Amino acid sequence: MKKHVQKFLIEDKEPLPISQHLRFRKSWRWNDEVTDFFRERITNKYSLHVCCGQSELGDVRLDLDPSSKRTHEGDMSDIPFSINTFDIVFGDWPWKMNFYKRWKPFYEMARVCKVDGHIIVNATWMPYAESTLLEETYLRCDSPFGTISAILVYRKLDDLKDKKHRVLTSKELMNSD
Ligand SMILES: C[S@@+](CC[C@H](N)C(=O)[O-])C[C@H]1O[C@@H](n2cnc3c(N)ncnc32)[C@H](O)[C@@H]1O
Repeated sequence: MKKHVQKFLIEDKEPLPISQHLRFRKSWRWNDEVTDFFRERITNKYSLHVCCGQSELGDVRLDLDPSSKRTHEGDMSDIPFSINTFDIVFGDWPWKMNFYKRWKPFYEMARVCKVDGHIIVNATWMPYAESTLLEETYLRCDSPFGTISAILVYRKLDDLKDKKHRVLTSKELMNSD
């Protein structure tokens, strides 16, 4: 009986929706050079890979696509982990994202990163949050005339300023002092 109840609950859970233009495509896959860059950075650190796609890097991997190599289903704009959880939070969002949708995923990555930890993104725009400091920038271009992106390494400075960007849950507020 218990088994039946469990089965029903699992099948009943609706997958989170994902827009067609943000779905994984093969051309988005990281090449060996980029993979090695991130592998080196996350070694011996507790890491979260946001929008992991087909990459198996990261202790915890988040994606909306069920065919990805994710360990957890979740939305980059509402990351299902607590404040200050990971030493490194990294990944690349779909580059076709609308301007106004680019902000929240970065604030979310900064929120779940520990103070003094790093947030590393591969993007075609420059994210900004008062609680972070941009420490390193690498230009990436995989082929002549191809799109250029930047790998940006930020350090999380503190938590307090994140409160300007989003409403924390009461549990997070109690734990953040
Ligand atoms: C640029 S690809 C990542 C590619 C990855 N670096 C690789 O090497 O395979 C972006 C990923 O973001 C995922 N994605 C799109 N919207 C998302 C969302 N709202 N939350 C989490 N993941 C999302 C897509 O499913 C896709 O796998």
